[in-house]
Amino acid sequence: PLVLHVLGARPNFVKAAPVVRALGELGVRQGIIHTGQHYDALMSDVFFADLGLPEPVANLGVGSGTHAKQTAALLVGLEEVVLEHAPDLVVVYGDVNSTLAAILVCAKLGVRTAHVEAGLRSFDRGMPEEVNRIVTDSLSDLLFATSPDALSHLAAEGVPASKVHLVGNPMIDSLFAALPSLDPAPVVARLGAPERYAVATLHRPANVDSPEAAAELVSAVLEVSRQIPLVVPIHPRGRARLAEAGLVDGPSVQVVDPLGYVDFLSLVRGAALVVTDSGGVQEETTMLGVPCLTVRPNTERPVTITHGTNRLVTPALLPAAAEKALADGASTPSGELPPLWDGAAGPRIARVISAWLKGDNLSP
Ligand code: UD1
Ligand code: UDP
Repeated sequence: PLVLHVLGARPNFVKAAPVVRALGELGVRQGIIHTGQHYDALMSDVFFADLGLPEPVANLGVGSGTHAKQTAALLVGLEEVVLEHAPDLVVVYGDVNSTLAAILVCAKLGVRTAHVEAGLRSFDRGMPEEVNRIVTDSLSDLLFATSPDALSHLAAEGVPASKVHLVGNPMIDSLFAALPSLDPAPVVARLGAPERYAVATLHRPANVDSPEAAAELVSAVLEVSRQIPLVVPIHPRGRARLAEAGLVDGPSVQVVDPLGYVDFLSLVRGAALVVTDSGGVQEETTMLGVPCLTVRPNTERPVTITHGTNRLVTPALLPAAAEKALADGASTPSGELPPLWDGAAGPRIARVISAWLKGDNLSP
């Protein structure tokens, strides 16, 4: 049997690496299809290198565009490649447009699918990712959940429990694997950052696409930079808009290119505070015990609040929240990580997939 992994964007690479490794250890034949949704070296190649991911068997080079144009290019490219390779299972990850397109293509071609990171819900359909999650989960044959809340969301949407496996979080597997190489000193030295600093990453459309939202956010972020120097590795999506709003290099703000996986997490590990709107970064700060302020009205990752270091803030409340977080330091309410965030999600997923390929629908 052949398993294909469809990957397109930065967070996909991080989630897939442990699954690919574990399936390899079980001797499963597999290949990666890179859709090319992310294509800059710092958004793609660096992750393959840092995570030890094998070369893709194909890169569809779909690139950027409006949702319709990008999704259309993904559908056309993926249909061709799935027909060509005739996989027994296609594995998709997270909530990006490449994930949605792969699920639609496979559903129409009658190819079985597995969704890693199933059941997360922000209950905010204004987020493109929420639409992608709902459609992907409704069409997947195997659903791998990273946290218990996902199980009730899927049940409420009528997904049969027999399809769903609570396996833990493969993004955290990648973090566990990288942990021994996470050293803030070299990246701090290379960037010329001070010893005590905060990190900010901002790329959600609701925060960076309109001049009004960008202005409100940037003014709050600049206020934080008066409390603590900020390093801002900037996603290409927000670069121009946030710069227009005033987020530019200055004495207390360093705006830098996106960082590679190991460099980024090293920087986060040494940070006094993280300000973000990323999904994955909410989880990584929880695991690393670094206080995290998420500038969003909601999160599809509530375990990072109940078990972790995450707090939701509005731009208006960000400066005061930062002051408090810096005074309090890291504090995790339960003192323990969410269930099964133990670095072994990849092997659990691989065991279910391997048994399923043998026609044996076992629990993990
Ligand atoms: C996508 C995901 C989002 C995820 C993010 C991770 C969707 C709908 N959104 O958002 O959920 O959090 O990836 O990083 O799939 N660009 C470049 N170089 C690149 C890639 C993108 O310059 O290598 C720029 C282009 O101007 C592009 C813009 O970034 O138009 C947005 O890229 P796109 O892949 O459409 O969405 P993201 O904002 O990256
Ligand atoms: N990341 C990185 N370099 C950066 C910013 C993020 O390596 O400059 C990593 C981050 O640690 C996480 C992943 O990229 O593993 C998350 O991607 P992103 O925030 O782009 O997407 P989201 O999780 O919001 O979908």
